[in-house]
Amino acid sequence: MKHCLNEKRVLLVISGGIAAYKCLDLIRKLREGGATVRCVLTNGGAQFVTPLSLSTLSGEPVYSDLWALKDGQKISHIALAQEADIVVVAPATANLMAKMANGIADDLASTVLLATDRPILIAPAMNFLMWKNAATQANVAVLKKRGMKFVGPESGMMACGSSGEGRMSEVADILGAVTLFFSAALPLNGMRALVTSGPTYEPIDPVRFIGNRSSGKQGYAIAAELARLGAETVLVTGPTALAPPVGVKVVQVETADEMFAACEAVARPDVAVFAAAVADWRPAKMSKEKLKKNMVAAPRIELVENRDILATFSAHGKKRPRLVIGFAAETCDMAVNAKEKFKRKKCDWIVANQVGKDKVFGKDDNEVMLMRLSSSGKINKAMWPRQSKEKVAEKLVGEVAAFFNKKL
Ligand code: CTP
Repeated sequence: MKHCLNEKRVLLVISGGIAAYKCLDLIRKLREGGATVRCVLTNGGAQFVTPLSLSTLSGEPVYSDLWALKDGQKISHIALAQEADIVVVAPATANLMAKMANGIADDLASTVLLATDRPILIAPAMNFLMWKNAATQANVAVLKKRGMKFVGPESGMMACGSSGEGRMSEVADILGAVTLFFSAALPLNGMRALVTSGPTYEPIDPVRFIGNRSSGKQGYAIAAELARLGAETVLVTGPTALAPPVGVKVVQVETADEMFAACEAVARPDVAVFAAAVADWRPAKMSKEKLKKNMVAAPRIELVENRDILATFSAHGKKRPRLVIGFAAETCDMAVNAKEKFKRKKCDWIVANQVGKDKVFGKDDNEVMLMRLSSSGKINKAMWPRQSKEKVAEKLVGEVAAFFNKKL
């Protein structure tokens, strides 16, 4: 299935900030989604990343010189400005934004930005004092008024050692903003989705934890599919070995408590899919130091129950997502156990699967049963054939779209 970035042409303007290093990853991720990326590099940008890195990653020549046509460069600044579906300025320095606000065109980047009538997305990056400066704020206001979109800047530690607002947004957020732009015509556009995935790790001491065999593959596939169809998707995931899906905001957590807090922080999802294998219990106390073998006897670990994230969200009153989907991981009597879980957790749908050492966890395919509560209160069951986790995700998200009356 194609991603909404597929065959989109991104013109990436890179100006002179240390955050330019993040562009290398951004190019890779945009291309993974199927976009083509052309880079325009300012002299300042070239202090931080090299044309060779950019051209290797983008698979395209890198453009820096306004006067290069006379040296045989085939594309003029006008063509660069036009042959794009979106222009992304990342990092955008205070200087480049000042030029943009004032129509100054004294190098290739600023000339292209003046010559383009394509949508522009700006990811500012600068010291917090420069960001706060009235001149910068006035320029930002002008650019926003002209319809340019911004992503960031964020607050936090900066390369110069100070801390404050001015850090360039993370690659995932810039990618999310680009994806959101192209997803405007997609069926789930305007919807917000939350997905949990992976295992949780409950610490015993600084080196040991209680965990489980969940790989996170099914949850990641669901998040990827929701994003591909245009939903603004947050994936809260326990530790996995998987790459973040394109266009999904990924929040990494370890414990069930952290997973709950991260889910609570997601602004009003319309649909929430709880695919994580959350540990039911955690050690009552985490030892500050590593437990040593020379203790008098083998340690007894007292466990306390973790909060049930799915059940809490199902009972969230006004804050409840319109559609709450749980998973049921069963090693035996799948249908009976899942039905009991369904009633107990009060979610709208439950996806039951048979798990075990050689089943589902870590595998690329899955055989699931979808249980839904009908309007008359009856539980409808549908067994789906064994298929790849991507196909399960596609089918499940298709059902989600139908629930929200969205046409695919
Ligand atoms: N779940 C959750 N928070 C927990 C435990 C489970 O959100 N603390 C969610 C899972 O993400 C899944 C569903 O509840 O969507 C069922 O999880 P499962 O592990 O199958 O069931 P448990 O509630 O743990 O019950 P049991 O251990 O008895 O099978």
